[in-house]
Amino acid sequence: MSARLSGRVALISGAASGMGASHARAFVAEGASVVIGDIADEAGAKLAAELGDAAVFTHLDVTRGADWDLAVATAVERFGKLDVLVNNAGILDAGPIGTYTEKQWQHTLSINLTGPFLGLTAARDALVSARPSSVVNISSAAGIQGVPGVHAYTASKFGLRGLTKSAALELAPHGVRVNSVHPGGILTPMLGAPEGTTLDRGANTLKRLGLPEEVTSLVVYLASTESSYCNGAEYVVDGGMTAGRA
Ligand SMILES: NC(=O)c1ccc[n+]([C@@H]2O[C@H](COP(=O)([O-])OP(=O)(O)OC[C@H]3O[C@@H](n4cnc5c(N)ncnc54)[C@H](O)[C@@H]3O)[C@@H](O)[C@H]2O)c1
Repeated sequence: MSARLSGRVALISGAASGMGASHARAFVAEGASVVIGDIADEAGAKLAAELGDAAVFTHLDVTRGADWDLAVATAVERFGKLDVLVNNAGILDAGPIGTYTEKQWQHTLSINLTGPFLGLTAARDALVSARPSSVVNISSAAGIQGVPGVHAYTASKFGLRGLTKSAALELAPHGVRVNSVHPGGILTPMLGAPEGTTLDRGANTLKRLGLPEEVTSLVVYLASTESSYCNGAEYVVDGGMTAGRA
């Protein structure tokens, strides 16, 4: 059987750790070439070295359009094209209304929502040139239902779900599909870090957190031409967290 992403060239933001790193490893294993974009230079360069000639690291702060331009140019110059964009970089930040500051709000929105918009902006022409292309926006179960005390994150992930739909409608005639992925609680550094969030780790039908690889298999599917009839849709991978009350 041929590799599922043979000949594809992908740019993955936030790929130095967690789920992004899992996606990068799987993409290369499935025959893709990958540009790893992240602000974590050391971890990103280390992963690119581990993956060999099929991967390259570029410093990418998703809030900076110039970094996105460079990342897209890196894909085209190094691998000849760009036909997959995975908007994965994100931060989780929590705090109750009245305490959570406007600065925190703006910071979270700038990474989680403006970041993917800037990525789409920078990658649009390359994606159209390389058609059929695929954009995978990593939203969250918090883009499907609210999470108390996690306001900016929830708003950003609902926003990314909306951006996915508007971009899918606009770019479909140009050969670019755009879909969103909505993970539940996944075992990554992100969940290890923040204190005081109200994410209930047992609140799903499977009574466990997910593994990065369990999200990666869905992202590989959406990045590949196997998902050629999927567009503008939301794909939940959350152990049943959003299925309803038991
Ligand atoms: N872990 C979960 O339970 C969970 C659940 C739902 C959705 N998600 C989403 O999945 C995505 C990946 O999260 P993860 O759990 O792997 O987290 P993670 O913290 O392990 O990885 C996030 C990566 O993004 C990078 N990053 C942060 N700010 C950046 C910026 N400004 N520019 C570029 N890169 C930046 C970090 O350096 C890191 O490598 C995020 O969008 C997150 O919101 C995570």
